Amino acid sequence: MKTKRLYHSSRTTVWIIIILMLLANLLISLVTAQQSNAPDSLTGNWAVKTPNADGTIRTTYFNLKQEGSRITGSIRVTQFYYLITESTGSPDGFKITGTMKDGKSERRVQYEGKLVGDELHMATRRRPDAPLTEMVAQRAPQGEGALPARIEPPALHKVSDNGLARTPPMGWNSWNKFAGRVDDASVRSIADAMATNGMKAAGYTYINIDDTWEGTRDAHGNILTNKKFPDMKALADYVHSKGLKLGIYSSPGPNTCAGYEGSYGHEEQDARTYAAWGIDYLKYDWCGARTLYTDEEMPAIYQKMGDALRATKRPIIYSLCQYGREDVWKWGADAGGNLWRTTGDIRDAWDSMSKIGFNQSDLAPYARPGHWNDPDMLEIGNGGMTETEYKTHMSLWAMLAAPLLAGNDLRNMNPEILAILTNREVIAVDQDRDGKQATRVWKSGDQEVWTRSLSGGAKAIAFFNRAAEEAKISVRWADIGVSQKVRLRDLWLHKDVEWPGDVYSVTIPAHGVVMLRLNR
Ligand code: GLA
Repeated sequence: MKTKRLYHSSRTTVWIIIILMLLANLLISLVTAQQSNAPDSLTGNWAVKTPNADGTIRTTYFNLKQEGSRITGSIRVTQFYYLITESTGSPDGFKITGTMKDGKSERRVQYEGKLVGDELHMATRRRPDAPLTEMVAQRAPQGEGALPARIEPPALHKVSDNGLARTPPMGWNSWNKFAGRVDDASVRSIADAMATNGMKAAGYTYINIDDTWEGTRDAHGNILTNKKFPDMKALADYVHSKGLKLGIYSSPGPNTCAGYEGSYGHEEQDARTYAAWGIDYLKYDWCGARTLYTDEEMPAIYQKMGDALRATKRPIIYSLCQYGREDVWKWGADAGGNLWRTTGDIRDAWDSMSKIGFNQSDLAPYARPGHWNDPDMLEIGNGGMTETEYKTHMSLWAMLAAPLLAGNDLRNMNPEILAILTNREVIAVDQDRDGKQATRVWKSGDQEVWTRSLSGGAKAIAFFNRAAEEAKISVRWADIGVSQKVRLRDLWLHKDVEWPGDVYSVTIPAHGVVMLRLNR
């Protein structure tokens, strides 16, 4: 009996041991299955770090979660933050699609990838017809590259007028020609050129550094410059010593359009830094703000920097760059803006320039001393248009009372280009102190007549031919708002024109212009 009981209990023990071992095995395999998420599944935060020559790093993050064949998570590329909405495949070969809301439209990106060892090999097309861009992502700590928490926009109020830009700002901006290549030396030599080539004498004043000057932030959150700009204060001193002013660029978002550090959460601090450096002009570009704010919140977000600039007590021109969304012309001045972009980016091409320029007529009522519509910077001299087309560009911008920010390499330009940029009679139209923007008063096919009133009862009239062939315009003065005989001056030929009687007929080259000033 005793032996039997003994035998029984040892059999039970064996069973218990076997069950325990099975359970332990199950546990181990569960744990290793979890861990194997680490080496051979896609779950994790992955970063592609590409060093820029200026010491900054461009990072793309793939924050992925894999559950079976489903991949969720986010993709962050410079200023864009996408949620993964579609996925197919496995770690050996998968595709993900990210989408994000951008104002009223949706942006999408698609990547294909595969896990190779503990690296993620990814590829995407920048445009549907572009070749694949390949990249290798490494594991990064969870949380790195995550969007910062959203700071609620302030309540709306009117930012007090800074009293600047009584006429449209004139100067130069680095983006159209230099883009990411702008640096301290180029800015200095552009300032030298402007100060001595007749542009300063013609009214050009601001030397504006666009995107890609930014570095990281120090331990106190102060924005630092990158390697290309060793000492911004010294650069401002240099530009000031030439009798010129210095402009800079930032974004209300965490990132600028080129993926550099934005002013998000540091607005007042950055405004103080700019003032301490001696900055005279800020272009503030929506860019990465689209990841945190809706378009409807733009007025409050722009107001925040408007207030911050006013608080510095330094006269700093405030240029709003949000591509003309949300009818910015209706609220830009209240947000403290001296000018606001009315369109997307200009390109150095007739199509782009003419489409933008000839589309501005309805905005005329919003331009006034201190507050201007900005159809974007000049492309004159960048090589993509003919001289005739550049004259049209200059004339149209002057008619529009637009900021005249040259965008070419002022150190190397031929005399014809310099003559276009420094045509003082055309500049005088742009800079007329009444600040009344032109409207289209006549149109027939590709030919258009635009007029604007100038101070002292004068008028500017531009006859444009948008066609690709020469064309003749014949108009009755009465039909374009000229009711009496006036003195006429041709602003490109620099000659007075005989009064022709009731009808004015003029032949205009393809894509060309004839611009007149009418004096009583
Ligand atoms: C946007 C702006 C441009 C320029 C670039 C810089 O595209 O509209 O004018 O400032 O950003 O990244």
